[in-house]
Amino acid sequence: MNKTTQTLLSGMAALFLLSACGGGSGGTASGGKGPNSENRTTAFKSMMPDFSAMGKMVKGETEYDAEKFKSLAASFDEMSKEPFKHFTSDGEGRDGDALPNIWSDPTGYKAVEDGFHAAVANLTDKAQGGNLEEIKVAYGEVGASCKACHDTYRRPK
Ligand code: HEC
Repeated sequence: MNKTTQTLLSGMAALFLLSACGGGSGGTASGGKGPNSENRTTAFKSMMPDFSAMGKMVKGETEYDAEKFKSLAASFDEMSKEPFKHFTSDGEGRDGDALPNIWSDPTGYKAVEDGFHAAVANLTDKAQGGNLEEIKVAYGEVGASCKACHDTYRRPK
């Protein structure tokens, strides 16, 4: 397998993670994206390069480099907070792929969001420690936390 194929494949793996529920055209029932939805979508997309770069090291597609991983984790820690500054309903139904249960079940939603931030904090911590096995577990927990929220609070894709 050459480098290009590897890059393509890992790109596809990242896409798969994002659309982990699979199937469907998605988005059709949405009232569109208002400014809040646009802002959180942009923020989510902006944190992807760091998340994917860490994923490649965790999967052994690129060589694990403790210093690089530390700085990726620190950057991701910072950027992963940004989307959640824009989680307010548009009030006009233009909530993009954010499902109404986010606004109707704020307690349940907050618990999932808090779980995500805790998982990210743990990954940042493990990155400092430099033990790849522990980092793998921590990275997997972050990924599971993305999926847990998407499965419940994002329009199925
Ligand atoms: C607490 C909930 C929650 C967590 C945690 C979460 N997301 Fe999302 N994500 C959403 C919601 C809701 C949307 C749709 C936002 C909108 O359309 O307004 C979204 C949208 C996105 C988007 C924009 C494009 C798309 O597919 O809709 C990306 C990319 C994304 N998330 C990636 C991630 C990744 C990667 C993680 C974990 C590292 C993550 N998210 C964690 C709730 C979450």
